[in-house]
Amino acid sequence: MKKLGVVGSGSMGNGIGQTAALNGYDVILYDVAEAQLAKARQSIATSLRKRVEKGRMAQEEMDRALAAIRCSVDLAELADRDVIVEAVVEKVEIKQKVFSQLEDLVGADCLLGTNTSSLSLAEIASGMKDPTRLVGIHFFNPVPAMKLVEIVRTALVRRSVAEQAKAFAESLGKVTIQAPDSPGFVVNYLQYPFRLNAMRMVEKGIATPEDIDTAAKLGLGHPMGPLELQDMVGLDVTYYATSSIYEKTHDPAMEPPEILRRMVEEGKLGRKSGQGFYDYREKK
Ligand code: CAA
Repeated sequence: MKKLGVVGSGSMGNGIGQTAALNGYDVILYDVAEAQLAKARQSIATSLRKRVEKGRMAQEEMDRALAAIRCSVDLAELADRDVIVEAVVEKVEIKQKVFSQLEDLVGADCLLGTNTSSLSLAEIASGMKDPTRLVGIHFFNPVPAMKLVEIVRTALVRRSVAEQAKAFAESLGKVTIQAPDSPGFVVNYLQYPFRLNAMRMVEKGIATPEDIDTAAKLGLGHPMGPLELQDMVGLDVTYYATSSIYEKTHDPAMEPPEILRRMVEEGKLGRKSGQGFYDYREKK
């Protein structure tokens, strides 16, 4: 059984852990706080239970997946892993620290991937003794449902490492594309301007969130509207990601609008806080 370590147990990290456990991996989910890990385990159990209730999965499969995931607050437990994916907060210094610790901990053959969506891989790798071993393995939210993984390569990454990353993503049933180490990679370079424009339309009073989302779903065939999606992903995530891309590129399409900054300041972060472009407090 292949051994996976996931560093960071938020929605991306626990989604990656869940998907890997369902695909036969032995998983250790690492985080700094027990409370965060308890939340992650709960969220994985809820997601699996829904699939069992819908008849999409047998109870035994759910039990097997849960048993394959161990939670730990001790990074040293990741020493024997074949693959480690980092999915911590989008702060370059924190990611650099994680990889320099991991480099000293794991064997030379362990695949080291980052799930960053908005930071420069080259910058993360610049803090490593061997920057040729870091590759981007970028999943999408919700990880168990989204088929795509972007394999992001720096100019330095070894070809064999990128090939291993592709094989790892495929072993989870995902389809990969290659993306350059440039702001937004491929998917976010496409989708952020769309989502930010939806927010600008609300800000300018051009249309309501409901009408914008209905337009995207029924007029463009999107599975979710941009503002519903925004609430699912988290307004803070988009604010920090687009701010970081905008600082680097000064591309006006990536500039976070005032409404986004204000809502984040007010703690309206989407589903997770109970309020975003929609109100979830009744349904919580
Ligand atoms: N966890 C696990 N599985 C989930 C899930 C979750 N949170 N949400 C949905 N699924 C699974 C369901 O179990 C279901 O699986 P089965 O077909 O095996 O039953 C499947 O996904 C479809 O779900 P539903 O039938 O419940 O609902 P749906 O058809 O409305 O699809 C959706 C839900 C997959 C989320 C769909 O609305 C969708 O694709 N939305 C767009 C999501 C998107 O754009 N994601 C990208 C976000 S941006 C990003 O991630 C970039 C970044 O860098 C942060």
